[in-house]
Amino acid sequence: MTDIDFSLTASPSRRLPVATHASGMRIWDSDGNEWLDACGGAMVMSLGHCHPRLVEAAQKQLEKLTFTYRFSFSNEPMIELAGLIREIAPMDRGWAFFNSSGSESVESAIHLALLYWQHVGQPAKTELISRYPSFHGSTLGALGLSGSRWRQGFEHVLDDNPVAQAPNSDIRSDRTPTEEATFGLREIEIALRARGPENVAAVFLEPISGASAAAVVPPDGYLEGVRALCDKYDVLMICDETVTGFGRTGQWWAVDHWGVQPDIVSYAKGVSSGVTPFSGLAMSGTIADVFAAAPEGFPYGHTYSGNPVGCAVAAEVIRTIRDDDLLANSTEMGKRLSAGLMEIADRSPHIGQVRGRGLLQGLELVTDKESLEPLAGASYRLAGLARDQNLMIYSCPTPLGERVIEAVMLAPPITIDERDIDEIVSRLGDAVEALSPVSPR
Ligand SMILES: Cc1ncc(COP(=O)(O)O)c(C=O)c1O
Repeated sequence: MTDIDFSLTASPSRRLPVATHASGMRIWDSDGNEWLDACGGAMVMSLGHCHPRLVEAAQKQLEKLTFTYRFSFSNEPMIELAGLIREIAPMDRGWAFFNSSGSESVESAIHLALLYWQHVGQPAKTELISRYPSFHGSTLGALGLSGSRWRQGFEHVLDDNPVAQAPNSDIRSDRTPTEEATFGLREIEIALRARGPENVAAVFLEPISGASAAAVVPPDGYLEGVRALCDKYDVLMICDETVTGFGRTGQWWAVDHWGVQPDIVSYAKGVSSGVTPFSGLAMSGTIADVFAAAPEGFPYGHTYSGNPVGCAVAAEVIRTIRDDDLLANSTEMGKRLSAGLMEIADRSPHIGQVRGRGLLQGLELVTDKESLEPLAGASYRLAGLARDQNLMIYSCPTPLGERVIEAVMLAPPITIDERDIDEIVSRLGDAVEALSPVSPR
């Protein structure tokens, strides 16, 4: 193998370890080092690396049928997966649509929403409302929804959709949970009225924030309130569960914590636990009926939509989560992780908040606990210190008004056991300690 990597894919300016094999939460590199992958790369590894059931499902499917084009054929894994998605979907009479990445599925959700309104005779409903901070993907439509630092350099070609602040995203605001819910809902309602509900197709949101804001959980009443606003103004509620779906937060979907039924949900990452690129949508029967009756069905998708290998793996992810009771494990291990992070936070002046649900947990990094001002550059610095401990965590610096919020996130596999949770906490504790001198208890 050549020493030089001529691909721009793996950050050539930094010499990254060359991964050779992996299992569960561990990755080994070509120098023989063992890494603890506590964030699944980018919150991808729901069942860990190379889960035997998923590898077997992929292998079996690879020997039978690797590709069908959706305008020519259906395929058995796709039909089976759509049935399973219907069983777990957070809405009535759920239908599915499949793609290969989170961004593709967000793009498909945009297409679906705009076409839906055309089909039902309201073609003026074309505007999209989203929130900041948020991240919905790298393609220009999905980036246009994102209230994220990745917009920088592309503002001139992006739509100005992220106009509502997500509640609980500013830990310096001095609001009670009820006031925070009211604040967040007012943000959405002001945006709806400013654009005119007759022009608005959908409100997009991550029910629990992922890459942009490190596991910000909304106050009770907020998602229920967004649902009520969408009903009041006849607008679709679209939840991006790319990070939070498939048991990440202890339920199949983050919206399940509040019993909220969105019109469309997009998912990716954990749906295939990194075995194959895969993603999809779940949509209500009300929306699907319109497309099922349309001569062209839903014509927009991508070449690999409904890829049989991805469908077979995703179906096995769902069956494994069920068979091994992994939603309960995500909840239980999430509590243990959160308790460990709280202990680290007690010892450090630089952790302003520990937050999250299940096995999606975030730490916000501050100069001190009184001012809660962001500790400049700390997200990348802490991720670097964790790497020194052979621990991979996800850094999420994100602009919010005049400030850049500094935060890191953890998303270990939902198959994890107590010993590995404790190992993450121990290594992260050492990394946080190296961030600055530990304050006396
Ligand atoms: C909430 C959310 N939506 C969409 C995406 C885009 O997914 P992908 O990178 O698979 O295109 C991401 C990626 O991090 C995400 O966090």
